[in-house]
Amino acid sequence: MPVPAYIERLPKAELHLHIEGTLEPAMMLAFAVRNGVDVPYRTEAEIAATYRFRNLQEFLDLYYQGSRVLIAERDFYELTHAYLSKARQQNVLHAEISFDPQSHTGRGVPFATVIDGIHQALQDAKSEFGIGTKLIMCFLRHLDAEDAMTTLEMALPYRDRIAAVGLDSSEFGNPPAKFAKVFARARAEGFLAVAHAGEDGPADYVRQALDELRVARIDHGNRSLDDKALVQRLARTRTPLTLCPLSNLRLGVVPDIGRHPLREMMARGLMVTVNSDDPAYFGGYVNENYRVVEEALGLSEPELYQLARNSFEASFLSAPEKQALIAELDNCAGRKFAVARAP
Ligand code: ADE
Ligand code: ZN
Repeated sequence: MPVPAYIERLPKAELHLHIEGTLEPAMMLAFAVRNGVDVPYRTEAEIAATYRFRNLQEFLDLYYQGSRVLIAERDFYELTHAYLSKARQQNVLHAEISFDPQSHTGRGVPFATVIDGIHQALQDAKSEFGIGTKLIMCFLRHLDAEDAMTTLEMALPYRDRIAAVGLDSSEFGNPPAKFAKVFARARAEGFLAVAHAGEDGPADYVRQALDELRVARIDHGNRSLDDKALVQRLARTRTPLTLCPLSNLRLGVVPDIGRHPLREMMARGLMVTVNSDDPAYFGGYVNENYRVVEEALGLSEPELYQLARNSFEASFLSAPEKQALIAELDNCAGRKFAVARAP
């Protein structure tokens, strides 16, 4: 599906992206060979053929299995560098990247190996092609809160490299409240917070993420629409939702892309952004995600501009940094819309 030039040109931020979810089949095979890890596939096509998911859990099972090929610092470096290069080609000027340390430390890979590889790639990408980044360390919610606390403690020596903590993995049955103490500690240590909520869990998990974890953003949040008071609260507080249309389609969160809630959320005054989640598994990077909602929901250029603008506003950048990137957006594609909205 070709992406229109208008979408390609728009400067944008990506705020919901799991680095382990950028492991393309070719890289999986190459790392498996290099590291002597057994994978039950011989070709990229064989791997891609398994990417048919009926729900979140079926995806997560393959995602964790794929992550087993990531062993050495070099693997994390190459994975991250490849994503940033691709993102920059799609006019992503700033990326807030999630990683799942427990999926690696649980296999005996040291925390330092993971963070050193990722961090070096962030630095190199900044100097090579000028993309800005922040890191979000996610806790796996299917594991217990003590495991998350141990992981937080492992991260403390690296706190200057990590902007925020997050919460991901199997949502249903693992409510945000389970992690209230870990998030309180993380906030006390100076981390910002986000959480996946309302992807396959109920609207109440979104409320819990706000009240019990005090998150600044909700990852997904689709099910918020089930609760009118919650929608009003999200709109009033301008709490961003990081939506992932192709992920939602591939995991059956929406029955078809024409029923994606993005347009309704915009109409209800919610601060929504478009992101790719796990692009190697869901068939598209950020521009393909803009494209699929543009086509299915009939989004206009001013609406696409607004989504790109939201991506900067919803980021963890400082106010002057946001202003500079929004000025670049206005310069490039959105001046006519920016001027049209002025009083
Ligand atoms: N980990 C990676 N992608 C995820 C998703 N979409 N939901 C929950 N956990 C994840
Ligand atoms: Zn996600």
